[in-house]
Amino acid sequence: MDLGLQGKIALVCGASKGLGYACAEHLAREGAHVVIVARNQDTLDQAAARLRALGPIKVIAVAADIASVEGRAKALAAVDEIAGEKNHGPDILVNNAGGPPLGDFRDWDRDIWLKAIDANMLTPVELIKATVDQMIARGWGRIVNITSSSVKAPRYDLGLSNGARAGLTGFVAGVSRHIAKSGVTINNLLPGSFETDRLRSSFVGSAKLTGETPEEVRLQRMAETPAGRFGDPDEFGATCAFLCSKHAGYINGQNVLMDGGAYPGIF
Ligand SMILES: NC(=O)c1ccc[n+]([C@@H]2O[C@H](COP(=O)([O-])OP(=O)(O)OC[C@H]3O[C@@H](n4cnc5c(N)ncnc54)[C@H](OP(=O)(O)O)[C@@H]3O)[C@@H](O)[C@H]2O)c1
Repeated sequence: MDLGLQGKIALVCGASKGLGYACAEHLAREGAHVVIVARNQDTLDQAAARLRALGPIKVIAVAADIASVEGRAKALAAVDEIAGEKNHGPDILVNNAGGPPLGDFRDWDRDIWLKAIDANMLTPVELIKATVDQMIARGWGRIVNITSSSVKAPRYDLGLSNGARAGLTGFVAGVSRHIAKSGVTINNLLPGSFETDRLRSSFVGSAKLTGETPEEVRLQRMAETPAGRFGDPDEFGATCAFLCSKHAGYINGQNVLMDGGAYPGIF
């Protein structure tokens, strides 16, 4: 299936590994130029090299904290460099950053909350604000926010994630419909348990709360998933590319859950 992404410019945040990288890879495979952002330069450079090997696309790696004003400015400047035009903005924006720590709400002070809200709610909001009007002016755009299955099925130890991402989800529900006539869509992609560094570190975090070993948490989490396995980031990246494709123009304001059937409800 031709996704119609040849020559589009994508800004993929949190993209040196894990789910963000998988999204960048699938967009690059479809011929999109990509700007990838992450903080650790070495991992980022390795990711950029893998993307460049995929074909004759432009790839710019921006080593920056996407939750900072300067980081977002650097990322958007790289997009403009590919476009060859100031304030052009991306055709595709994938919002992502590391998830907040797990824990007990009694241990979280205001600063910890603000950090989580900044990274997982306000950063996507700022990037949507900075890019959506250029997309509207061109009559086409795709925004995908990587959130979490915890938005639909909150888990106690993910309180920071539950709170911050619920705020983003509410914001997106309003804006996506408000701009729906423009050819620009905004959707959220909700991962359940995918085999990434983040998932592996969450076993350690949960184990500290429950008194189990990380391996026991891993096995229990897998057993709770009807699919009987964790998700492969490649599956996630492919779904993201489809949501960004020309075929997905009538999918808007949705929360697309990828959790191997873990959510028990009908809707
Ligand atoms: N994997 C899962 O099962 C799962 C489930 C539910 C929700 N999620 C959420 O999905 C998102 C992606 O998860 P993942 O599993 O792919 O995590 P991951 O494997 O830890 O990868 C996170 C990526 O984001 C980058 N990053 C983190 N903070 C950043 C920042 N402030 N600025 C720029 N880049 C940043 C990381 O690179 P640097 O550290 O070098 O910056 C890395 O490239 C997270 O928000 C996570 O909470 C994941």
